[in-house]
Amino acid sequence: MSLWKLKRPIHVTCARAITPFLRQELLALGFPVFSETAAAVETEGTLWDSVRLNLHLRTGHHVLYLLGEFRARDADALYRSLSGLPWENYMPAGGYFSVASSVQNPTIRDSRYANVRCKDAVVDRIRQKTGSRPDAGSSQREAVLYLFWKDDLCRIYVDTSGEPLSRRGYRKIPLKAPMQETLAAAVVMATGWDGRGPFVNPMCGSGTIAIEAALIALNRAPGLLRDNFGFMHLLGFDEAGYRLIREKARRASKKFSPGRIIASDISPDAVNASRRNAATAGVEKILEFAPCDFSQTPVPAEEGGVVVFNPEYGERLGERKKLEGVYEAIGDFFKKKCQGYRGYIFTGNLDLAKKVGLRTRRRTPFFNSNIECRLLEYELYAGSRKQRTPRPDAPS
Ligand SMILES: C[S@@+](CC[C@H](N)C(=O)[O-])C[C@H]1O[C@@H](n2cnc3c(N)ncnc32)[C@H](O)[C@@H]1O
Repeated sequence: MSLWKLKRPIHVTCARAITPFLRQELLALGFPVFSETAAAVETEGTLWDSVRLNLHLRTGHHVLYLLGEFRARDADALYRSLSGLPWENYMPAGGYFSVASSVQNPTIRDSRYANVRCKDAVVDRIRQKTGSRPDAGSSQREAVLYLFWKDDLCRIYVDTSGEPLSRRGYRKIPLKAPMQETLAAAVVMATGWDGRGPFVNPMCGSGTIAIEAALIALNRAPGLLRDNFGFMHLLGFDEAGYRLIREKARRASKKFSPGRIIASDISPDAVNASRRNAATAGVEKILEFAPCDFSQTPVPAEEGGVVVFNPEYGERLGERKKLEGVYEAIGDFFKKKCQGYRGYIFTGNLDLAKKVGLRTRRRTPFFNSNIECRLLEYELYAGSRKQRTPRPDAPS
């Protein structure tokens, strides 16, 4: 049976601590969840199912479809077992592929050697069966294989994503300290915002959080923004079928967000970059931008809104001292302008967060690269603000 119709284990990777959100997404898409680790969730499906996952997942990085599992004590055993797989049925003889891996085997000092033996097994097999050979290299632009090898247990996957799904393709201007797209999506999911009330994102930087919020509000599949995935370079890929599922995803996407999404930053360059990134993501029309100090960010006088900050958290002591005042002022902003909202601060520095001066209701752990972070939630009780806030982009 063709892999496209064959149900096999699928291993979906993500950034550390994101698994609860990835799990939630998989279940919502109708996939079972068998197990999870700090940075991956185990499900199952056909190769064709993996296409749907690549199109819809907001928090996953790589969708790995299992091709084979075997025992190998050393590189020669690895080569022999891999040569036994029918690669000529999986990849075009004249194509191109790369190999990535995670290797912990006592006979292997450098995982690149395992990658080379894997590549040789595939190339030799295809050449023997078809008379021509695929090229191999490090670019992930075409077919990608992923080798997991721990002690003598080997699993070989096809990475149906190719380049990580965090590279949505809209962030043409990243600026300083941009948040990874998949992390931003998980942060929006962690706020529980469902697109209805206002979503306010002061200190928006390159706009990642606001853009991910917009994609969620519009129910827009993030994969619609990409035109290249690993699965497209496998034999038997049904282009017409793919056009249909893209079309279905496109039709499920709304044109307007019910809730307003406001993004602001003190740096005009950041606001311009956010605008351009939002335009590339196709959501600029539903985002409202304001170049201003965060304290001047327009906050609509509606209850049930969400306000999310991702302030700098300072690597050096001097920077941290300066930031103390910023965190204090965020606390004031919450108290004065955001009553009736849920307030959030994503930070890697809990000492600075103490300066906010409000009690946290929830602390969701995340990692930003290797820095342990928290998304701190504050309940900002309703006051008596009545006036509606004009749209920041509206002519005065
Ligand atoms: C860590 S970055 C945000 C990164 C953003 N999440 C992204 O994905 O690109 C912090 C942002 O806060 C902005 N900022 C710093 N001080 C500010 C202030 N007083 N008012 C408004 N924005 C400020 C900076 O210009 C910077 O863009």
